[in-house]
Amino acid sequence: MRYYHAEHESVYREIEKLGYTQWNDLFEHSGAWTYDHFQNRAFLERVITRLGLPAAAGTRVLEYGCGTGPAACFLAARGFEVDAIDLIPEAINLARRLAEERGVRVGFSVADVCALPAESVARYDLVVDSYCLQSIVTDEDRDAVFSAVRSRLGPDGYYVISTALYVPGRDAEDGFWYDASTGIYYREVPADSAADQLVEIDGRWYVPHRRHLSAEALRDELGAAGFQVLSLESSDAADVVCRVGSDEVSS
Ligand SMILES: C[S@@+](CC[C@H](N)C(=O)[O-])C[C@H]1O[C@@H](n2cnc3c(N)ncnc32)[C@H](O)[C@@H]1O
Repeated sequence: MRYYHAEHESVYREIEKLGYTQWNDLFEHSGAWTYDHFQNRAFLERVITRLGLPAAAGTRVLEYGCGTGPAACFLAARGFEVDAIDLIPEAINLARRLAEERGVRVGFSVADVCALPAESVARYDLVVDSYCLQSIVTDEDRDAVFSAVRSRLGPDGYYVISTALYVPGRDAEDGFWYDASTGIYYREVPADSAADQLVEIDGRWYVPHRRHLSAEALRDELGAAGFQVLSLESSDAADVVCRVGSDEVSS
């Protein structure tokens, strides 16, 4: 089983059991974010306006790691033609129900973004990542994601990412191990875990859990993966706008 599967599956089973509607309901108890006012909504609002993407059928958006679909539904409600994928069937089931309740149409499907086939036709004007990339940890898997995005994005398309960054102390509690040289947080698991990518550190077993890079390292990674970073706003997370290309970073 892929190292990222069990954690996400158990989160959505819990969300289903508790009658919650989105990932943040389980982790963020301030009530600051709801399904309709989700964490990176303000950023997406700004991006849509700034990039001048026509909000109409024919402007095609792909969101990967959509969870229960807050961003996908928001974009569909704005008039975009949206496809959205997530690894976990429970998330997609809930996403379909919530989209139906809101009267919006989104092409939801279950898929692993690390295992998408190459596309021969670049079909999307915008590819969106709302806090998925931090869970795609290994170099190989992140390369697979970037390659899938490149092959799906038209020449004038944009790739927008919201992702957690390295913050000292984050996940530094018992049961985690941070490798500062790669930005990888490892999570301790039982020695008989069925996950792939198991590593042994000081006699304990771990799986890759999160990749929390510095803003500079993330910028460098995206540049090396063939994206031009148009903007990168950062705090404990980064909101990034890219396009395919390797020109000089503009801001
Ligand atoms: C932090 S949650 C964010 C969910 C949603 N975008 C939101 O903002 O509520 C990360 C999401 O990425 C999904 N995910 C993780 N790895 C994935 C993969 N390899 N392929 C597709 N989705 C994945 C998880 O199932 C989860 O829904």
